[in-house]
Amino acid sequence: MTTYFSYLDPKLQEELKKTAEAIVAPGKGILAVDESNEGIGKLLATVGLENTENNRRKYRQLLFTADDVLSENISAVILFDETVYQKADDGTPFMELLKKRNIIPGIKVDRDVVPLYLSEDEVTTQGLDDLAQRCATYKKQGCRFAKWRCPLKIREHTPSAQAIQDTAQVLARYASICQSQGLVPIVEPDVLLDGHHDIVRAQKVTEVVLAAVYKSLNDHHVFLEGTLLKPNMVTPGQACANRNTPEEIAVATVTALLRAVPAAVPGIAFLSGGQSEEEATINLNAINKVQMKKPWTLTFSYGRALQASVWKSWAGKDENVKKAQLELIKRAKANGLAALGKYEKGAVTTAAGDASNYSKNHKY
Ligand code: 13P
Repeated sequence: MTTYFSYLDPKLQEELKKTAEAIVAPGKGILAVDESNEGIGKLLATVGLENTENNRRKYRQLLFTADDVLSENISAVILFDETVYQKADDGTPFMELLKKRNIIPGIKVDRDVVPLYLSEDEVTTQGLDDLAQRCATYKKQGCRFAKWRCPLKIREHTPSAQAIQDTAQVLARYASICQSQGLVPIVEPDVLLDGHHDIVRAQKVTEVVLAAVYKSLNDHHVFLEGTLLKPNMVTPGQACANRNTPEEIAVATVTALLRAVPAAVPGIAFLSGGQSEEEATINLNAINKVQMKKPWTLTFSYGRALQASVWKSWAGKDENVKKAQLELIKRAKANGLAALGKYEKGAVTTAAGDASNYSKNHKY
């Protein structure tokens, strides 16, 4: 049995805990811009631009040079490898731009998914082999946290016990390696929106998955106070006819979290998973308003739900940069308010606010 082990060095515990707490400071959340080169390529295509290193850089420059007020609601950003080393037009490294704005840089460290052999179209996430070295390099570059995503599909026979156990093991090994190198691990078991299932099924699956993940994190001696969770909200599947209210989504989500996530975890930052920008804001607001026990900070770590309007307003044109930056700031403000349960439905309107961001088998 795993009853003999040492705790992390107290100094390292303190550092990890401080970083995790700063990321989920009240009214703040995470901007996820860790789309892979393939993922951002699809977005660039929608605005008529080629998927070149410079075009990817120009888009991310737009985000990182938005007005300083952005940091009132954005505490941290998740980067993709390439972005860590890129610079703005004036030669300032992106990492410096972020630090000047008091935004904590983090890094996606998983290497995407491959099929789980003999499963029903389920996957496992790769990237553990050289993870310690990569984490050490990113830490030297100034990153203070990492992210690793394990997607799970709800179908008649899935997620399977095999996929759930694999997710739990892989996330625990990842989290343990990150902490050994001084990075806060954001643990992301993502129960996908794809499917016809109702909210009851989504809640049960989320509970089972989270319970397995935290058992495994404990078995691997992960220091929970120096971690964050990035889960799905509990919602009906995208193709389910019965649509629940934000209040019902809030109760299902908080119930699942209460049953499976230890109170030692400082914060939970939801992914948006294909919800529209406004839906993701309203649901987060309802989650924070619901009168239930909530021992963790509940906030956002959105990719699509913070950027859909930015892409639409920018449309790949230099003259639209300012306009697009304002969209980002508006959406960040709306989500900052939602993280405090103070958002009023429709108070913020953005170019693509109500448009669904769902795409089947979405590729980050
Ligand atoms: P979405 O908010 O688009 O689901 O992205 C979250 C994510 O996991 C990227 O890190």
